Amino acid sequence: MSDTPKSYYQRHIFFCLNKRDNGEACCADHDAQGAFDHCKSRVKKEGLMGPGKVRVNKAGCLDRCAGGPICVVYPEAVWYTYVDKDDIDEIVDSHLKNGQVVERLLTPPDVGR
Ligand code: FES
Repeated sequence: MSDTPKSYYQRHIFFCLNKRDNGEACCADHDAQGAFDHCKSRVKKEGLMGPGKVRVNKAGCLDRCAGGPICVVYPEAVWYTYVDKDDIDEIVDSHLKNGQVVERLLTPPDVGR
């Protein structure tokens, strides 16, 4: 038997949906909710949703707001800055489905809040 427990989900993607009302940058200003909804419906449509497969979750601020809108995929801990629904489609088709990181959407490593 392996020492490493099997992950409940093969991949888990979190979208920051944080909204700030004080004028500071936040992912909600970039239609993060729309991207989340789109990702969830694509993952469902592709039959990827569920135990042993993929889970799409909302998150609060992930503290990398300067690169927003932000999402992150585990267990690979790959951070993405997306722009539109085509980018979300690419993350679903390439990474969530096939484990291929979408290099062009990677959040630069030094981007923080
Ligand atoms: S507001 Fe989205 S990472 Fe901070």
